[in-house]
Amino acid sequence: MMRVYLDNNATTPLHPELKKNITELFTDFFGNPSSIHWAGREAREKIEEARLNVAKFLNAKESEILFTGSGTESANLAIKGIAFSHKEKGNHIISTKVEHPCVLNTLKYLESVGFNVTYLPVDEKGQIDPEDVERAIKKETILISVMYANNETGTILPIREIGEVARKHGIYFHSDMVQAMGKCRIDLSQLNVDLASFSGHKSYAPKGVGLLYIREGVGPLEPLIHGGHQERGLRSGTENTIGIVALGIVASILVKEIEDDIKKMERLRSKIVSGLLEALDGVILNGDQKNRLPNTVNLSFEGVDSQSLVLLLDSYGIAVSSGAACSSGSGSFSHVLTAMGLSPDVIRGAIRISVGKFNTDEEIDYALSIIPSAVKKLKKGK
Ligand SMILES: Cc1ncc(COP(=O)(O)O)c(C=O)c1O
Repeated sequence: MMRVYLDNNATTPLHPELKKNITELFTDFFGNPSSIHWAGREAREKIEEARLNVAKFLNAKESEILFTGSGTESANLAIKGIAFSHKEKGNHIISTKVEHPCVLNTLKYLESVGFNVTYLPVDEKGQIDPEDVERAIKKETILISVMYANNETGTILPIREIGEVARKHGIYFHSDMVQAMGKCRIDLSQLNVDLASFSGHKSYAPKGVGLLYIREGVGPLEPLIHGGHQERGLRSGTENTIGIVALGIVASILVKEIEDDIKKMERLRSKIVSGLLEALDGVILNGDQKNRLPNTVNLSFEGVDSQSLVLLLDSYGIAVSSGAACSSGSGSFSHVLTAMGLSPDVIRGAIRISVGKFNTDEEIDYALSIIPSAVKKLKKGK
């Protein structure tokens, strides 16, 4: 049976270039990057080379890149870091209802220790209006946190415009950009963000490495982890050299390949969507169909339970997702589709297909030979 992975927003396969380098990565750079002898220096050099490659890919300065352990950690550090170090200025934060749990639960925690949070609503496409952000600003507002692209629907939010609002009012702006890396050409110098979170495993690097962009001059940030002062004292703990070096290698490849990757992902996604619309009645496309990631489609099949569909497709070797990548399995309704005001039936029937740079036409053909009959089978069985 063919195995087809169409869940690249949950995580991505390792870039084959890393597989080639894996033995070297695991054996040659074992030194502690803080040691001053040859072994430490070699590891340090590799980390700094990775920082440079990542900075080039994001069009940022090396000094603006901080390595962490995950996208979740980056978002925690950005949000709690600013909140705790600026609490004398104010205790109000603005965000949206459609953020990933790594932002929403961090904000919930901050509410429990005295901060106030405004969660902006979205429209039926999952979009927010920068004017709503401006209207929500109070004199106590110290931070705005809005995601770049939604992981469930692929909807891209108006980050540059929100950043302009934040700048006009002198408020720090963090964006969870985890879903952007590997799917979009990113130019941080143009986005008006002060802090941005990224994750290695969403862009063909291994799990266990993330990064936080901190624009020059932004801060101070209260660290989450105290210890040996690694990463400018903002993320103590001996560095994950292997993960960081791997992320640097991937960044140096993506910088050359991203335009072609975008075209390929758009083509494959469009092939899936037109194939399904042709084969089935009652298909609903969720999210913004214009401003969106090139790889993601979220669609509902009327009268079908998405969990059953995901399991049935899995039995044919096809991996897609129902609900959010990181919280599927929790059995709860998608907070993103709920915030968009979709009906319970549409939400119940929603699946997310997310292609990646390594998917092929053969894989999409196979998926299209299975998904319509699987949907019909579940509809009949009702
Ligand atoms: C938008 C978004 N932010 C943050 C994360 C968390 O990233 P990580 O798994 O590296 O903690 C995810 C993971 O699905 C995500 O999709």
